[in-house]
Amino acid sequence: MKTKVGIDRIHFYIPPQYVDMEELAQARKIDPAKFTIGIGQSQMAVTDYKQDIVTLAINAALPIISKEDRDIIDQVIVATESSFDYSKAASIYLHEALKINRFARSYEIKEACYAGTAALQAAVDYVRLRPKRKVLVVTTDIARYGLASSGEATQGAGAVAMLITADPAILAIEEESIAYTDNQFDFWRPQYDTYPRVDGKFSTDLYNQTFLNLMEEVGERKPDFWDAYQVQLFHLPFTKMGRKAIKNYRQYLSNSTDKISDTDQKLKALDLWEKHYEHAIEYSRNIGNIYTGSLYLGLISLLNYDQSLKEGDKISLFSYGSGAVAECFFGELQDGFREAILFKEIESMFQKRRKLSIEEYEELYLKSIETSDGIIEFDPSVHEGEFYLAKIDNHRRYYKQKISHQNDSKM
Ligand code: HMG
Repeated sequence: MKTKVGIDRIHFYIPPQYVDMEELAQARKIDPAKFTIGIGQSQMAVTDYKQDIVTLAINAALPIISKEDRDIIDQVIVATESSFDYSKAASIYLHEALKINRFARSYEIKEACYAGTAALQAAVDYVRLRPKRKVLVVTTDIARYGLASSGEATQGAGAVAMLITADPAILAIEEESIAYTDNQFDFWRPQYDTYPRVDGKFSTDLYNQTFLNLMEEVGERKPDFWDAYQVQLFHLPFTKMGRKAIKNYRQYLSNSTDKISDTDQKLKALDLWEKHYEHAIEYSRNIGNIYTGSLYLGLISLLNYDQSLKEGDKISLFSYGSGAVAECFFGELQDGFREAILFKEIESMFQKRRKLSIEEYEELYLKSIETSDGIIEFDPSVHEGEFYLAKIDNHRRYYKQKISHQNDSKM
């Protein structure tokens, strides 16, 4: 029998501030129902200018790495599209902060929101060949479109850390997956731009069409798909998006004059997907788009809120990154998957968050780190237990753990 490989531990971290979407809508003179129902967002996580993708990533990974793991992690892979450095990988800071052994590989992967899946697949393939070793994958992003822009309601920030091992406790990932590449300009960020360029309407249409194309291919290549997989998870740029993709696929199946095989069976599967979907969007609804980690945030949300799921249930995951690359891959829930997730810590993180007024949010948004030469020091007066950006010394960033929280691993 082949060794199972997949997600042994998973955790996320979000900044300790958020904005209420009804208040944001009122400030922008928009009907709040557009944000809460039309887009499907209630709250949006916002970073302080001292929190960057590295502080988010370290704080997501720290609680799931044990002392023993540090010696057998061979790779630290960070997926991000909000890097502050065009050369040095964010994973190197992470490697140091987590005290991973010196003989590990550390690098960063980019392809919009899809990068998290590229990192996960690289990790899974590596461990499949070396089942005694482990790989740490961390997705980390700060999604920003600009104040009062049409994308503003779909911002967010956060990191998801996943430890990939053999005999995983949470989700075994299947070897076969189906990827898809299509050169398009739906969302991209030239190196000279602060915010991405986005063709909003086109981006949602392309997402829908990509999902449809992949699903038809999945049906061709995996004859048991429509029967065997209980849940379809989606990349969630905002919580309405996956629902739109299901609706679009349903319309295609219902309206097509071409002969589509197994239409009734497919329509039944869509009904089932819609039921599970509600559980997968709980966290995203209160955080927003975390780009590379959004799909995985959906997975953690599903495992927390969907009490109908049990060991052996099969999940299909749709990863999408603008530009565009997508992939459908598959996993099976493992014995005791719920106990392996730090739900109490997650709950406490939400409880400790502070709501920003719209004025505070706008002020924070426009405040950026000094980019001149010299030394800037920051005090650790942020969220409990955080690693924080302690100093920038002539453009070199240094991170520290609060003294009271050293050795804070939950493992
Ligand atoms: P918009 O033009 O402000 O909004 O842009 P809209 O007019 O399309 O309205 C949005 C929805 O609200 C519509 O629902 C309206 O009907 C509804 P829909 O018809 O689409 O189902 N609505 C209302 N509902 C209730 N009460 C009301 C009301 N008014 C309107 N009063 C858009 C929205 C998402 C396009 C914009 O925010 C945007 O450009 N966001 C960024 C791009 C994005 O998230 N695209 C998603 C697909 S691409 C992707 O997922 C990749 C990405 O994550 C990046 C990466 O890969 O790195 C973004």
